[in-house]
Amino acid sequence: MKHQKPFVFIITQYFEPNVDSVTAQLDKKEIPWFRLNTETIPLITNVRLFAGNEELYAVFKFNGTEIDTRNITALWRRRIGEFVFPNVKTEQERGFIRHECASMLHGAFESMHCFWVNHFISDYRANVKPYQFEVARRVGLKVPKTIITNDPAAVNEFVESISGTVLFKPVIGLTTGGPPDFSLEIQTAYKNHFNIPPAPPINREPEVKALLSQLLTIDKIPYLKLVAGCPAIFQEYINKRIEIRITIIGNNIFAAEIHSQEREDTKVDFRAQALAESSGLLHHEPHNLPDEISNKLLILMRELNLVFGCVDMILTPEGEYVFLEVNTAGQWQWIENLTGMPITNTLTNLLISGGIQ
Ligand SMILES: Nc1ncnc2c1ncn2[C@@H]1O[C@H](COP(=O)(O)OP(=O)(O)O)[C@@H](O)[C@H]1O
Ligand SMILES: [Mg+2]
Repeated sequence: MKHQKPFVFIITQYFEPNVDSVTAQLDKKEIPWFRLNTETIPLITNVRLFAGNEELYAVFKFNGTEIDTRNITALWRRRIGEFVFPNVKTEQERGFIRHECASMLHGAFESMHCFWVNHFISDYRANVKPYQFEVARRVGLKVPKTIITNDPAAVNEFVESISGTVLFKPVIGLTTGGPPDFSLEIQTAYKNHFNIPPAPPINREPEVKALLSQLLTIDKIPYLKLVAGCPAIFQEYINKRIEIRITIIGNNIFAAEIHSQEREDTKVDFRAQALAESSGLLHHEPHNLPDEISNKLLILMRELNLVFGCVDMILTPEGEYVFLEVNTAGQWQWIENLTGMPITNTLTNLLISGGIQ
């Protein structure tokens, strides 16, 4: 491959503090980067995608800066947001424009033959929970007994087949269609294009809250029929000594213990506290994974074609490691703050080096 000077292209959304910490490091190392927030499509960022006569490439134009995709050495896709487009009347029209924008963006992705964190196709597939469970099982990790269903009768049968407690949680747990970002920049662009007053600003601190895992206690059994209206994951409850959050960047593994059993409110789901400002309430510390588990996790990442991922595991009182999930765009700042492990720097270096060494 011809040697290129590093250029990091980041595609994300306005509110994404993890990106701010990486770009600060890129600046320190004097590596050029460009951040595309999807809310600027289509009104602010111009995309030109050239196909047909020569090899596909794209040019992004934003506030006077032009980026040619042929010069990008690494692409970091990090929590892509909404598109902000004209205030059309019907949901059908909104859906049409949203898909047109997404398809144009995907076209631009196809022109980027650089190093990806993570590739959009791999990322899509890796987020399919039953697929992760299956790959994890295949590489030899222990996965809890699980059923994903919209059939209340199947849940009843599952509960009867499990000797212990059952837990339930969302299949994917995302919501879409939250309020778009009407930052000043977007309001101005909107006004320039459409000559109408800008929409009132909306402060877009994420209003999407994690739906926590819950025990399927006896009082919830009467509500099981509601599963017919929305599927969920039902899983055998794994007893915990500690939880382990493992951030994997290339071949680097940063495992952190989360002592969720120390508090009553974090026993079932540690996020009842851990992601809040008060995350220091739970004891965290670096954890030495057995080589066997580290190796399996690296194989899992390779099988899923991921170079970045945050794996959630449980260490049982008997000393067994149980796989729960891999998040392809998981948070790490709180782990870095509480354990001092150099996660941001490792990711920054991976983006600069443009591949796993
Ligand atoms: N089968 C399970 N047994 C015990 N605890 C679980 C189980 N599944 C999830 N949890 C707990 O719920 C929380 C979130 O779990 P996770 O599987 O990572 O779900 P999510 O996809 O919602 O992040 C963690 O605290 C985890 O320990
Ligand atoms: Mg999780």
